[in-house]
Amino acid sequence: MSRQLPDFPWDRLAPYAAVARRHPDGIIDASIGTPVDPTPACAREALAAACDAPGYPATHGTPALRRAVADWFARRRGVADLDPAGVLPTIGSKELVAWLPTLLGLGPGDVVVHPERAYPSYDVGARIAGARPLPADGTVQLGPGRDDVRLVWLNSPSNPTGRVLGVDHLAKVVRWARSIGAVVASDECYAELGWDVEEVPSILDPRVCGGSHAGLLAVYSTSKQSNLAGYRAGFVAGDVDLVGRLLEIRKHAGMMMPAPVQAALTAVLGDDVHVAEQRERYRGRRSSAVKAFTGAGFRIDDSEAGLYLWLTRDEPCWDTVAWLAERGVLVAPGEFYGVAGGRHVRVAMSITDDDAAALAQRLG
Ligand SMILES: Cc1ncc(COP(=O)(O)O)c(C=O)c1O
Repeated sequence: MSRQLPDFPWDRLAPYAAVARRHPDGIIDASIGTPVDPTPACAREALAAACDAPGYPATHGTPALRRAVADWFARRRGVADLDPAGVLPTIGSKELVAWLPTLLGLGPGDVVVHPERAYPSYDVGARIAGARPLPADGTVQLGPGRDDVRLVWLNSPSNPTGRVLGVDHLAKVVRWARSIGAVVASDECYAELGWDVEEVPSILDPRVCGGSHAGLLAVYSTSKQSNLAGYRAGFVAGDVDLVGRLLEIRKHAGMMMPAPVQAALTAVLGDDVHVAEQRERYRGRRSSAVKAFTGAGFRIDDSEAGLYLWLTRDEPCWDTVAWLAERGVLVAPGEFYGVAGGRHVRVAMSITDDDAAALAQRLG
């Protein structure tokens, strides 16, 4: 199977990391989106209170957790009618992304569509299942009568570009997918980090789905909004029948979220204050970074939401990576996210305030 999987690309960044580390003031590592701020107290307290957990946890999650997800969708995402039976906790969202095609029973001959500039795990998940990954940003490109397309991944706000898909775009994809019987899975893990947009609609929004969640799955993660990446706390929600199918296999396969993490996830979903605080931290870093990069002649594309700036100097991405590494700044080459990203770099805002403030000096 490993022969079907792409090489792990991060190894190619190692020589540039070595250059950046030699900077007299040290490296500013903006290459990966791993949170650097503390896990909020509400999560830690809930985790500690639930740490006596001798029995097996429910794969479907506690009723309180499923209720908390439904309430969160109603409060934060404009989705008032989510059935808690259609909620399933996942061990972070990366595992769900990587296993969803397999859990849906996809295999050879099936096609999984994902964005052209994309988080690499959509491609990997298709390959693990033996299905064919197909990068495409629009339904026109795919054409009518595609009975080989079984799953369509959307990612809004996007990693890496920060682009947000509006209601009309999402509704069009839903109509197209329904017309060919494909599932739409929408990865919305940056939904709480909107900057230059009025709203970040969910695939489950009634304006998008016409009030029915049939064939639709929203995938979410609290890693970024709640600095919980180390807990592995995500969930998938939507079509009750589809979620039921995933649940059945996950029960057999032992893919269950630990009980203390279920308690922590329930707690963070009920607390909007720490999410707002985290958003403000990222807002501050982002504004310092925008000033520093535009001042140094970079162009910022998309980047209207999410954890990243999507930048270009209109040159091959590795040239930009090298230029920044000499200034002690490590970023991810856009090529990691597909050939369409070959002239961009991705800069993560998961850096400290001090590092964000130091960017202007480094690039000046
Ligand atoms: C678009 C996207 N989806 C999913 C994930 C996985 O997040 P986690 O597994 O921490 O929930 C990431 C992480 O960076 C991501 O960028």
